[in-house]
Amino acid sequence: MSQLAGKKILLGISGSIAAYKAAFLTRLLIKHNAEVQVLMTPSAMSFISPLTLSTLSKRPVYTDVIGAEGWNNHVEIGLWADALVLAPVTANTLSKLASGQSDNMLVASYLSARCPVFIAPAMDLDMWKHPATRRNVALLEGAGNHFLEVGYGELASGLIGEGRMAEPEEILTRLESFFGQQQDLVGKKVLITAGPTFEPIDPVRFIGNRSSGKMGIALAISAARRGAMVRLVLGPTSLTVSHPNIEVVRVQTAREMFNASCEGFENIDLAILAAAVADYRPKDQASEKIKKSGNALQLELVQNPDIAATLGKMKKAGQILVGFALETQNEEAHARAKLERKNLDMIVLNSLRDPGAGFNHDTNRIRILHRENNKTADFELKSKAAVAEDILDSVLHYYLT
Ligand code: C5P
Repeated sequence: MSQLAGKKILLGISGSIAAYKAAFLTRLLIKHNAEVQVLMTPSAMSFISPLTLSTLSKRPVYTDVIGAEGWNNHVEIGLWADALVLAPVTANTLSKLASGQSDNMLVASYLSARCPVFIAPAMDLDMWKHPATRRNVALLEGAGNHFLEVGYGELASGLIGEGRMAEPEEILTRLESFFGQQQDLVGKKVLITAGPTFEPIDPVRFIGNRSSGKMGIALAISAARRGAMVRLVLGPTSLTVSHPNIEVVRVQTAREMFNASCEGFENIDLAILAAAVADYRPKDQASEKIKKSGNALQLELVQNPDIAATLGKMKKAGQILVGFALETQNEEAHARAKLERKNLDMIVLNSLRDPGAGFNHDTNRIRILHRENNKTADFELKSKAAVAEDILDSVLHYYLT
């Protein structure tokens, strides 16, 4: 029997040419014995008729908060659903979701829903790449919404690129695996470090790096969804995270990250150290902005504490420690040396040589190196959310029984 049998799915459709795919999705969901309630934005109706969708879903379609039959209760509908699936989501609707502008039934129901939300964007390639869209996606991801990756191909504009809505079958598979997913980290306490550190030179300047924190945040969200209680020690990033199972501790420097990570480590079952910690910091921080003088300026740097190595020493039987390695040469040998030196159980290797992997990308390609038996496992290029699932699956499979 399908994982979707008996599930109540709220399907929100916005005004994109891809709206026709929502009819196929409705049909698939009904075939898998889900109950489907369709919501449409006013502009979605220019692309597909509510009659088509009400016929397929066997329910009246809601198109506005105040409809022909009177007040449509978005709060009640939001609470009714086991999952809210928004497909397709235009750049405009994405922006409304991100800012909470609830001037239609779809956004009002989104704000009222307490269930998991799946978002399948569809737009032209330049709209998809635009910084405004990137910011909205990051914000909505940080709020715990599940994104369905856009496809690459010919778009309605005739241009070729990224922006096609995920196919109905992909959305169905994602929902099935979500409902089939076990809460396999319930009762576990997880520590995750993420993002860069900023080491002050003076009140204005710092030494930092290009880490965005995306990989660590994806790990925190996946672990929380799987039932773990997560402490996310997060270096400076504009990304936001909110999930009832995630405690976010924001830090600036490596020493602050070190203190926040060591505190309460004895109660942690699994620590994943995804932060890009500065190895060195300026020995002294100038209290005033350093003035330009002469041709050169010398900064004396001193070593920062190594969080991974320290936790590796503190580690007791049953505690699992996972590190990351970002290498540019001799990747595997360097990563394996770190695994040993820092007393890690597993290290996730990503190479800067791989296009689409590493800092600031939404995707990553990883190789996992295990301490035991020198085992390695290679993974495809995937979204960071999917990579996070792979990492947690590996930890569970090998270490947490
Ligand atoms: O030595 P390297 O920085 O390449 O090691 C990478 C791993 O060690 C990552 O998991 C990183 O988060 C962790 N690390 C740390 N504290 C440091 C330096 C690195 O926890 N000071």
